[in-house]
Amino acid sequence: LNETDKAYLLNSIRDIEDFPKPGIIFKDITTLLGDEKAFNFLLDHLSTRYENQEIDYIAGIESRGFIFGAALAARLRKRFVPIRKPGKLPYTTISEKYSLEYGVDEVAIHIDAFSSLGTHKPKVLLIDDLIATGGTATAAVKLINKAGAHCIEACFIINLTFLQGDLDIKKTTPVYSVLEV
Ligand code: PRP
Ligand code: MG
Repeated sequence: LNETDKAYLLNSIRDIEDFPKPGIIFKDITTLLGDEKAFNFLLDHLSTRYENQEIDYIAGIESRGFIFGAALAARLRKRFVPIRKPGKLPYTTISEKYSLEYGVDEVAIHIDAFSSLGTHKPKVLLIDDLIATGGTATAAVKLINKAGAHCIEACFIINLTFLQGDLDIKKTTPVYSVLEV
């Protein structure tokens, strides 16, 4: 994307000051979703990037990652796998914990989410709307690999680069961010 395209997409995302806590500027992607031109422009861009790559599954992180991940999976005619918060998936799960500023959180996946494809390890593209500290996405990449698949890339619509949340993932997995702020 050129700078004009990036500015166009960035302008479709609304900044909300002091949400959810004072001092935080929240990136509100509902305005992007509510703008069919911007949403389709983004999906066109992601389709072009991934249509000729070998991908068996697209995994999206609950909950905003579901929106972009499922939309892209449908466009590319790929399978979609949800990575969820704990206690949500009904069948047997495997999970990965990660630490927050205060406390710990967890992401979970069905144990059979990536079925064996016989000839090769399933290739998975991970999608989330945003990477901040990177805790969620780093755990999700680990979880995909733990589930017997190979995460070929982690893709984010927005990367809050000042937090350097992508550093850990980059040690093992390519990272692509559409917008960097
Ligand atoms: C937000 C965002 C990412 C995550 C990034 O999700 O959508 O998933 O935080 O933060 P991190 O890089 O510091 O881990 P949130 O947990 O707020 O939930 P939601 O997607 O359900 O709104
Ligand atoms: Mg999220």
